[in-house]
Amino acid sequence: MISYLLQDKPAAAPPGSAKSVYHSMLNEPLAQQNRQLSYEFLLSQLDEASRLPCDMPSRPHVLGDWLERETAETGAQYAAYLDQRRQGQPRRYFTCRAHALTFLQRVAPTKLVDGAWLYGVLPNWADERFHPLIRTYLEELGDGEPSQNHVVLYRRLLARYGCDILPEMSDEHYTQGALQLSLAYQADRFLPELIGYNLGYEKLPLHLLITAFELDELGIDPYYFSLHVTIDNASTGHARRAMQSVLNMLPEDSDPQRFMARVANGYRLNELGLGATDIIETFDLEKELVAMLKHKSVFGRYVHSDYKRIGNLTINEWLNDPELIEDFLQVMQETGLIKRHQDPQSSPFWKLIDDSKKPPMYGVFSPSEKQLLYDWIAGDWLDHGKDVHVVDVETRSEPGSATPFRHHRAAGSPLRVPASQQQERPKDLDRSVEFKKEELRQLPEATRIEYLIDLMGPSQHATAAGLAATQIFSASVP
Ligand SMILES: [Fe+2]
Ligand SMILES: [Fe+2]
Repeated sequence: MISYLLQDKPAAAPPGSAKSVYHSMLNEPLAQQNRQLSYEFLLSQLDEASRLPCDMPSRPHVLGDWLERETAETGAQYAAYLDQRRQGQPRRYFTCRAHALTFLQRVAPTKLVDGAWLYGVLPNWADERFHPLIRTYLEELGDGEPSQNHVVLYRRLLARYGCDILPEMSDEHYTQGALQLSLAYQADRFLPELIGYNLGYEKLPLHLLITAFELDELGIDPYYFSLHVTIDNASTGHARRAMQSVLNMLPEDSDPQRFMARVANGYRLNELGLGATDIIETFDLEKELVAMLKHKSVFGRYVHSDYKRIGNLTINEWLNDPELIEDFLQVMQETGLIKRHQDPQSSPFWKLIDDSKKPPMYGVFSPSEKQLLYDWIAGDWLDHGKDVHVVDVETRSEPGSATPFRHHRAAGSPLRVPASQQQERPKDLDRSVEFKKEELRQLPEATRIEYLIDLMGPSQHATAAGLAATQIFSASVP
């Protein structure tokens, strides 16, 4: 099963599961029943979080020093990593390019709601104490500039490498996204927890630095990740504002200890579900390949001419039952169609997919799917962890892309612009944002701000209307 993350009908997930909360809070956040389910989800996650250890100090006034120490520590660890790499150590995270592209897909449920937890503080725009959080939210939204909006950036990143059709994922892949969307709509009830979650999320992690470095090495635009290294930094960025917000909200009259305990519990929510490093560690090249081919077989089973036999079945017969995919791969190896652990160019099957002339199976596989096939066929022939082979990459430069590619697409591989990208050309989006802005400016003053805030919700801020609303809001709120 494949789901189009933001547009789809949610795959049948049990009510109250992270996946179902995620989809319902994206699609219908205002429905009473969805609110209730997300409230209960949040309560149960907070209960789970309360049993985890916590490294955040409980005294608010040492938070600044702590943050600085943590950032220095991360910096030292990253320097040690770079040193190891310079001495010839393999990549620490991504064994091959397909591994990295799969990672982009599997963190997508979280990245496509980047910043969502801060949405609920917008109605407090007139209260100065909220300004650091509001400013952070506006920056996540790129102040309404499509090329700086983090969700737009991530969507474009996925589309650029043909990764935008997401595979079926486990409930744990949706935990963080579901938490972020739940906090977005429960900000009044869970403000201390929201502030704590924000502090944990915006603290610069080592994995962000290594990810950006290794993506670049693999010929994948690291801009989305490197952007967060600068923007989330502890001296001026989101992390500093996150710390400032804790101090701004400290209750003067009631119990500050109780407040800080709630902040710490929100901070621990960051530990739940699958994080970036869990997703990296559990990658299994063959499993990913088989899952992709099982999905593809649904479309491929009627298009091959019937007489072609591989082993004792026709191609259509092989593709007719997804459970046969592993055997099919085995038979293709036995018949010499696939020669594993060699240059894939010597495998006849690979030639059907990728050839200097238009190959028979041109366009059947997306760039990321081709990469998966290539890396699996190449096997030990590639020094996984050191070699890089770029199968197919879109070479058109994207707005906001800061880092030029070090690697180029393989000689002779076809250049293909994914269909999804053709739909949304940056210039078209810019034009419709301008058009929407004109419309929004006509709104009566008294109701305008609420209307703008509605359009800036997690599922809407990356649309033309949402971007237009964000631009107007940003210009009128400090
Ligand atoms: Fe972000
Ligand atoms: Fe951030």
